[in-house]
Amino acid sequence: MGDLPAIEVIEKSCFPADRRSSLRALRYSLKSPAQSVWVAVAGQREIAGAMILYHHPRSIRIFSIAVLSAFRGAGAGRRLMEQALTLARRADCTAVTLEADQHDRRLTSWYEKFGFRIKKTLSDYHSPGAHAVHMRLTLKTALKGGRVRGRS
Ligand SMILES: CC(C)(COP(=O)(O)OP(=O)(O)OC[C@H]1O[C@@H](n2cnc3c(N)ncnc32)[C@H](O)[C@@H]1OP(=O)(O)O)[C@@H](O)C(=O)NCCC(=O)NCCS
Repeated sequence: MGDLPAIEVIEKSCFPADRRSSLRALRYSLKSPAQSVWVAVAGQREIAGAMILYHHPRSIRIFSIAVLSAFRGAGAGRRLMEQALTLARRADCTAVTLEADQHDRRLTSWYEKFGFRIKKTLSDYHSPGAHAVHMRLTLKTALKGGRVRGRS
C-alpha cells in the first residue's frame, strides 16, 4: 500500500517507541483479512492521521488512532472514528472496543463523546505502573432480516 511510509511517520510522531507498530507489524495489518487500516487525508492528498482496526465476529477493536499534531483539532480524528463506527454498524457488530491510557483524561473524554464507556482498568497494561482502561461502545443491533416462527 502506497500509504505505508506516511503511516509509519504518524506512528513515530504520535506514539512512544514501546507503543508504536513496527514497519513489519504495519505491513501485516495492511494485508491481514482480520485487520484494516484507514488514513485521514487533509486537503488534496496529505495524510494527517491513521487508524488500525481489528475485526472480530461481533465487534471491532480500535487498536490505534492517531493524527499528526499539526492537524489535530480539525476533525480528522472524528472522521476516522466515524468510519470505525460505520463499519461496525454495517457488519452488525454489537460493540466497538479500545484501550486507552488511564491518565489521559483528554483522550478518554474524547472517546466518551462518541459513547464509549470505561468498563475496566487494566493494571500495568503498557508497562509497570502504566495502567490503561478498557472502553466499550455498545451498539444496538437492528432486527433486520428477522423471521416469524410458530405452530398452529
Ligand atoms: C486523539 C486524536 C486521534 C484526536 O484527533 P483529532 O484529529 O485532534 O480529533 P478531532 O479534531 O476530531 O477532535 C479534537 C478533540 O480531540 C481531543 N483530544 C484528545 N487527545 C488530544 C490531544 N493529544 N491533542 C489534541 N486533542 C486531543 C480533544 O478533546 C479535542 O477536542 P477540542 O478540540 O475541543 O479540544 C489525536 O489527538 C491524537 O493523535 N492523539 C495522540 C495519539 C493518541 O493518543 N491516540 C489514541 C491512542 S491509540
